[in-house]
Amino acid sequence: MRTILVLNAKGGSGKTTLATNIAGYFADRGDSVALADFDVQHSSLDWLAARSEAWGEQRPAIRGLDAANQGLKVPSSVDVLVMDAPAATHAEALGALVKRAQTIVIPVIPSPVDMRAAEHFIAELMAVRVVDRHEVKIATVANRAREGTQAMTGLGEYLDALKLPGGRKLPFLATLRASVNYLKAAERGLSIFEFAPAATQVDRDCWAPLTRWLASNRSLP
Ligand SMILES: Nc1ncnc2c1ncn2[C@@H]1O[C@H](COP(=O)(O)OP(=O)(O)OP(=O)(O)O)[C@@H](O)[C@H]1O
Ligand SMILES: [Mg+2]
Repeated sequence: MRTILVLNAKGGSGKTTLATNIAGYFADRGDSVALADFDVQHSSLDWLAARSEAWGEQRPAIRGLDAANQGLKVPSSVDVLVMDAPAATHAEALGALVKRAQTIVIPVIPSPVDMRAAEHFIAELMAVRVVDRHEVKIATVANRAREGTQAMTGLGEYLDALKLPGGRKLPFLATLRASVNYLKAAERGLSIFEFAPAATQVDRDCWAPLTRWLASNRSLP
């Protein structure tokens, strides 16, 4: 089973947006997907509820797992497990979550406050044992980007320069633009990959390096 964790201690960085769109991407490809919500806010499970309400059986099924309340129990039929982490995940909770993942995606918003928080969080993550031992693959993604802004240039330079323990590069894979398409998708229980291609082509292009990486062995430890 493929296990992908979307993680950043900073609230509102785009974890649920990435987790639901990654789940939708793999489901649309025909994989058996589970979306595990570790957040008591249940935003990912709400997205799944909107999905089944609006579409019934018309869209590929994604199994919801209430990991926040029931622990993580994954059926053996699942090919891809996408995990949506809550904000303020630190210390032991961080270690426990990271241990479950082959791949971690960290969304960061180009704002001074979010970037400073990301710096602290990434330093904390680097000290987690499985990360230190290279047993998990990690990448960063800029989210809600407005191209050409000073904050975006600063974030790009910062993410580009990040190194893992041992000096390996921490890949900065994709820059997702701020787009109303994510709000529309969230509302309807869809991923941007399930809209008419022309409607979300710019966003799909932004995602391409990330989805290519996630679908390849490069994102496996
Ligand atoms: N690229 C984007 N363009 C436009 N809106 C976005 C984008 N990414 C996220 N958002 C919006 O920003 C808000 C926060 O995003 P999201 O809920 O994904 O963050 P989160 O990290 O899961 O938050 P929390 O820490 O509370 O769980 C949501 O309203 C979401 O729809
Ligand atoms: Mg969330």
